[in-house]
Amino acid sequence: MPRAASKRPRKKPAPSRGGARKPWSGRFGEPVDELVKRFTASVAFDRRLAHHDITASLAHARMLAACGILSPADLRAIERGLATVRGEIEAGTFAWSIDAEDVHTNIELRLTQLAGDAGKRLHTARSRNDQVATDVRLWLRDAIDELRKGLGDLIGALLDQASRHAALVMPGFTHLQVAQPVTFGHHLLAYVEMFERDRSRLADCRRRANVLPLGAAALAGTTFPIDREQVARELGFDEPAWNSIDAVSDRDFAIEFCAAAALIMMHLSRFSEELVLWMNPRFGFVRLPDRFCTGSSIMPQKKNPDVPELVRGKSGRVFGHVVALLTLMKAQPLAYNKDNQEDKEPLFDTLDTVRDSIAAFAALVAGIEPCADAMRGAAAEGFATATDLADYLVRKGVPFREAHAIVARAVRKAEATGCDLAGLPLSVLRGFSDRIADDVYVSLTPEGSVAARNHVGGTAPAQVAKAVARARKRLSSGR
Ligand code: ARG
Repeated sequence: MPRAASKRPRKKPAPSRGGARKPWSGRFGEPVDELVKRFTASVAFDRRLAHHDITASLAHARMLAACGILSPADLRAIERGLATVRGEIEAGTFAWSIDAEDVHTNIELRLTQLAGDAGKRLHTARSRNDQVATDVRLWLRDAIDELRKGLGDLIGALLDQASRHAALVMPGFTHLQVAQPVTFGHHLLAYVEMFERDRSRLADCRRRANVLPLGAAALAGTTFPIDREQVARELGFDEPAWNSIDAVSDRDFAIEFCAAAALIMMHLSRFSEELVLWMNPRFGFVRLPDRFCTGSSIMPQKKNPDVPELVRGKSGRVFGHVVALLTLMKAQPLAYNKDNQEDKEPLFDTLDTVRDSIAAFAALVAGIEPCADAMRGAAAEGFATATDLADYLVRKGVPFREAHAIVARAVRKAEATGCDLAGLPLSVLRGFSDRIADDVYVSLTPEGSVAARNHVGGTAPAQVAKAVARARKRLSSGR
């Protein structure tokens, strides 16, 4: 995507393009009110669609010419004119005007200045309604490809860390209380699973969005003998939209995209929360590189996890965009309504927010330095291997419920003594069950505990290594 078209506009558009008239002004007895003009104009934000608008116009014009609706000379003039317009937009010299309301009319008016009557013929068999629906779908496809690429990088960074720390023991939590030992690699692989699902949700959304609205015109189709298949092919759409009314009216694909994006932010936000906790000296599980942290203007000792905190905070705006778009659509009668113009800012902000959050996280994850001693120390506290002792007893023939009760008594004893389960002498442990022998201690260490969970989806280092290999394969196969 060219830079000029992908950036939010910094400057307000120029107030007027030499008294440009609205394309529909012939129907009206007085010029539009200044406030209404500003209120209804979308060019300040929808100019971001310019690149796709031109691409779609070129495909439309070529089809009109191929179908004998436009002369070859007019097509050449349009192609030349649109190339100039694209160049002006990329160079930042294009004079955007709110008199021309939106990106579509701005481009068409400039084209007409350059190409004369040929420019005026471009809008044959087309409406801004099918035009904008097409532009947004083209934009969305690129947005999805960008996010999928970013997620791939993030997953790659997680896999590198997971394989490096496949055997590093840390406490796993439930209710934010130490529950059972896990490996850091296994914990990171949980996020790999989440981000892989996010990626496939985006691919799914892309498939449904990838149909061509052009040809629907305002809503009912057109009287011209057009070839929608040709336009679909040229623009890389899988097929034409099969109903003209639906094609110009629904924005479910935009909602789907924002919902998929909201899930990404939810996952990133959970990860952020964990990093914030882990960086707290009371956990002390990880160090983040200084370049991802900031200091305090008053407290000289501070090092704050600003990046994860901001990502956690930014999840809110993306969730908000989903609700905004659902609300935008919920009471609209078919077909097109001007309400739909409001779909763009939430969409654009969703892409910008999620893209940057993912990119920040990919770099951040690569820089995480786990503190092995703090992690292992915490995993050895809090009777994290109590379940392992119960499982040990079950293997010696004790029914699980009884084993659970025996271990509960042993935990109380250890707590009263001020030691961990592994700190209780064999004679004391045998006081709770005579099935306990000195082979019990392997099960009571965090390393023994994780190594024993050696099945598909388990936390054993050997399983983590296998899971990393499987995930790498999926990633390189483009899933
Ligand atoms: N700027 C408009 C939008 O974003 C383009 C379509 C306008 N169509 C119309 N009939 N007013 O939806």
